[in-house]
This record gives sequence, C-alpha cells and structure tokens, in this order.
Amino acid sequence: MKLEAFAARVRPSRAVVFFTGAGISTESGVPDFRSPGGVWTKYQPVLFQDFMTSEAARIQHWRLKKATYELFKTVRPNSAHLAIRDFELRGQLLGLITQNIDGLHKLAGVSDEKLVELHGTDRLVTCLTCGKRFEPAEVYEDLAENFTAPTCDACGGYLKSANVSFGQSMPPEAMQRAQVWSEQAEIFIVIGSSLQVQPAASFPVIAKRAGALLAIVNRDATPLDNIADFVHNGAIGEFFERLNPLVTNT
Ligand code: APR
Repeated sequence: MKLEAFAARVRPSRAVVFFTGAGISTESGVPDFRSPGGVWTKYQPVLFQDFMTSEAARIQHWRLKKATYELFKTVRPNSAHLAIRDFELRGQLLGLITQNIDGLHKLAGVSDEKLVELHGTDRLVTCLTCGKRFEPAEVYEDLAENFTAPTCDACGGYLKSANVSFGQSMPPEAMQRAQVWSEQAEIFIVIGSSLQVQPAASFPVIAKRAGALLAIVNRDATPLDNIADFVHNGAIGEFFERLNPLVTNT
C-alpha cells in the first residue's frame, strides 16, 4: 500500500490507535534500547527480583535512572509526538499505547484518558510497599556519589522509579485499556518499536486479528512487518512531514 492510499484510509477515521516505542523519542535526543548506542548497549537491565533481593542491584537501578533523569530534564517532544497529539485534537484518536517511560507524549499534550503508559514512567518515583508517590527531583537531588538505595520516609519500603522492570507485573488497568483499544481500532499504527518485547508486542496482532488496518513505521524491519497492511522503513519525523498534509485539510 502506498502512502497516499494509507493516508486516504486515515483521513476519515475516528478510531485511530497509535502504539509507540523508543524510536519516536530518538529525534528528541533520547536514545532507544536496541539500536547501536542504545541503552542496552551501555547498561544491563536490572531484573525486578534482583532489585527486591540485592542492594547492589537497587544501586545499579538508581545509577541508570539518575543518568536518565538528568537527560529527561532537558528533552522536549518532537514533531512526531505533536503529530499524534494533533490526532486527538481532530477527534481521530481512539487511544495512544506507549511503551515509553520518557513522559514525552504527556508533555506533548495528549490527555490522560487517551494515553496508556504500558511500561509505567520514569517521571515518578513510588514506594513499593505503601505506594507513596515522590517527585523524582526530591529523590535524585539526594543521591550523592556513593549512595545507598533510597527508602520511603513513611514506611521504610524500597523506593523505585515507576517504570515496569523486566520480571515486574504489568499494570492491569493499563493492559485492559490497551486490549480494548486494540480490539476497537479501525487503524492501528506502530511507530518506532522493534516489537521484540511481550506482552506489549501482542497488541498489534490483536488489532490485526480484530480487523484493523495495521501500519508499521520504523527504521528497521520488525517481526510483524509480514502481517502489516502498510510498512514504512524510514525516519519517523520525515514520515509525519509527508503524512500530515495528506490527513489534515490544511
Ligand atoms: N526513525 C525511525 N525509526 C527509529 C528511529 C527514528 N528516528 N529511531 C529509532 N528507530 C527504531 C529502531 O529501528 C528500532 O527498531 O525504533 C526501534 C526502537 O526499538 P527498541 O530500541 O527495541 O525500543 P522499543 O521497541 O520501544 O523497546 C520495547 O523494551 O527495553 C524494553 O521496556 C523497554 O519499552 C521498552 C521495550
């Protein structure tokens, strides 16, 4: 399917679901995970069970999150985040399912009721025991050089960034909303994901099986390209520069 034909299907639709991964944020200066130079080429992920049983693992978690927090203070949404926000403004967005923890979709202005953060967010810190929420700034500013992992001032429990770590259970309410949107989507558009992590990567399949037109926009090939109706391998910013005029009346 050519871009023009894809755009002709998108323009009238009021049930578009976007599914985004780290690739949408690289043009904002946030590295993705699996491209050359990505996060997993520099850090090892801290598994949830290790976080719970080892102070050294908790400290490793906080070193990675402190580095990420310094970066997140500076980054801004890019044109792709704003293009998706504009789908909501036009009444076309059924929902936005993101795997990203950088908070850039929220900063771009997508409303909470249209956004599911499947893997949580690094823009919040919570106590794993009592659930108390903390602003990241108040936690990170206290992390001196050789710090011990921070604990809750209310109950002494472990504090952790509010992202979902490998081995940690997925947020049930977020999974339920993503499931409903995937089943109801007319058009399901994957943006910037290698589609290698489950259960997140099952949602494009659920949408396709439920009759949605499946589109994948990604620099590299993905395991679901062969079931997609539309595939664009290229830069995301450039893709939206070409799509936007075809789907808006401007
Ligand atoms: N334009 C187009 N595609 C891009 C761009 C860009 N500017 N930058 C990166 N990409 C593509 C890469 O080709 C890659 O396939 O985005 C994809 C990003 O894939 P990953 O780094 O695997 O990120 P993601 O799919 O979001 O990872 C899923 O894995 O590590 C866990 O929980 C973490 O949410 C994350 C999940």
